[in-house]
Amino acid sequence: MQHDDAIKKVLISEEQIRNRIAELGAQISHDYQGKDLLLVGILKGAWIYLADLVRAIDMNADVDFLAVSSYGNDFSSSGNLTFLKDLDGSCEGRHVLIVEDIVDSGLTLSALCELIKSRKAASVEVTTLLSKRAHRKTDISVKYVGFEIPDEFVLGYGLDYCQFYRGIKDICVLKESVYSK
Ligand code: IMP
Repeated sequence: MQHDDAIKKVLISEEQIRNRIAELGAQISHDYQGKDLLLVGILKGAWIYLADLVRAIDMNADVDFLAVSSYGNDFSSSGNLTFLKDLDGSCEGRHVLIVEDIVDSGLTLSALCELIKSRKAASVEVTTLLSKRAHRKTDISVKYVGFEIPDEFVLGYGLDYCQFYRGIKDICVLKESVYSK
């Protein structure tokens, strides 16, 4: 299926994403100046955001990745995480910024923050490109949020539906006809 056939509408354009990431990068550079910053990207959804964010941060930042799968359905996670890939290095004593694509219920993030804290990081904060508050089930605090979005299933810019559509440049809403088949 062509990308255009799956898209109902563009929610956030490529240009809006670029401008917001520049603002977040400036804020993060300011807040972490002089600190040992480790960006931890959550695979797979966050890799495009992380790639753009690290170039918007005007200081040295180390990068590592965690891969998790959660046994939910195609539209939401259950919070029961299986770790598929651990960090390559230690985060003890380091200032960790978890980089997520989207926070929905917050269950994935809660489990990840607990994991990083248990490894004695100096601090643990979160940045997410997108936040959907409608189904939030935790009081997890997200320090750097790109965009608050309505309760719609989105894809593109790294986010998938059934592993497809990650390469779309904008954040888009999926057509109902795609998932009602
Ligand atoms: P949470 O644990 O409910 O916060 O879900 C977070 C994870 O669910 C994200 O990292 C995504 O993988 C997935 N997810 C939640 N909402 C969407 C969406 O609208 N589009 C694509 N993936 C989503």
